[in-house]
Amino acid sequence: EKGTYPHYMLKEIEEQPLVIRKIIQAYRNERGELAVDPEIQRALHEADRIYIIACGTSYHAGLVGKHYLEKLAKIPVEVHLSSEFAYQMPLISEKPLFIFISQSGETADSRAVLVKVKELGYPALTITNVPGSTLSREADYTLLLHAGPEIAVASTKAYTAQLAVLAVLAEVIAKSRSRQSGVDMARELGIVANAMETVCGSKDEFEQIAREYLDSAQNAFFIGRTLDYAVCLEGALKLKEISYIHAEGFAAGELKHGPIALIEDGTPVFALATQARVNLNIRGNVKEVVARGANPCIISMDGLAQDGDRFILPEVHPLLTPLISVIPLQYIAYYAALHRGCDVDKPRNLAKSVTVE
Ligand code: F6R
Repeated sequence: EKGTYPHYMLKEIEEQPLVIRKIIQAYRNERGELAVDPEIQRALHEADRIYIIACGTSYHAGLVGKHYLEKLAKIPVEVHLSSEFAYQMPLISEKPLFIFISQSGETADSRAVLVKVKELGYPALTITNVPGSTLSREADYTLLLHAGPEIAVASTKAYTAQLAVLAVLAEVIAKSRSRQSGVDMARELGIVANAMETVCGSKDEFEQIAREYLDSAQNAFFIGRTLDYAVCLEGALKLKEISYIHAEGFAAGELKHGPIALIEDGTPVFALATQARVNLNIRGNVKEVVARGANPCIISMDGLAQDGDRFILPEVHPLLTPLISVIPLQYIAYYAALHRGCDVDKPRNLAKSVTVE
């Protein structure tokens, strides 16, 4: 039930701190350490390469998950769209492990790949919010998101739950491989949950940003680098699917190779700046679009902020910034859609679970 909330989407955005805390609890063993089923641990150990298969928002979570598994667990990862992979399989390594990410566990495009993968005899793990769903039943292993039912068509809390579970998985494998990973993931995710609460406390500011930048916009762009780029793809998807504003996420360094031609006077450009290594680069990219007339909205992280940034996120572990930087983008999409009179929870042409290929 959505209780006092006007929309499920708003409720689900604001449940995110709770969901992260639930995940920390759910993945603790009796000694209080993060853990996963030993069989899943073994399957990751034995794999020489991981293939993440997903659609839409879950695919965007996979892009972030690749960073986690490669940086922490040191396993090479490829991320593929289900609908592409099904008809154009890349070369598969000697000992692959397939990870299917699906909120609903019912997405037909992903299931088509799972069926093929099982025919070929490869091991598969499904990360899903729905116990007993098709993708969970048909895979060898399942990790649950513990996000509670997600009703709004636009996925919000499932995305951050997917990121948290992928971070836990990467950390557990990292520890078991080297006995030292340097990241206390339970603690860092606790900090994320608190930071999420702080960000949710600024929703009036996000409504104001939506009003200012998007009420009369026809296009909007989201730019970022590395992890921020992955979040920009998700921010653009949220905005386009519920507000019907044409929105695109770009790798900021690619602007000069084409997309910058789209910038006109007043074009809203949302820029994420949460990564120290590329902070100077993204600042330069913002200057490039401003010189062409863009209306920039910079969302940065504490410690990396500069004068004129529109919103400053509380500091979290640099790998975990996507869990909080996505929240302003979710709210901005929500308010932009609301201001346009769109049906926020049930956008046109879309279904919550896509059971056709
Ligand atoms: C976007 C959205 C979709 C889903 C996609 C995959 O907000 O919800 O892009 O992420 O249809 O769905 P699942 O995760 O259920 O496989």
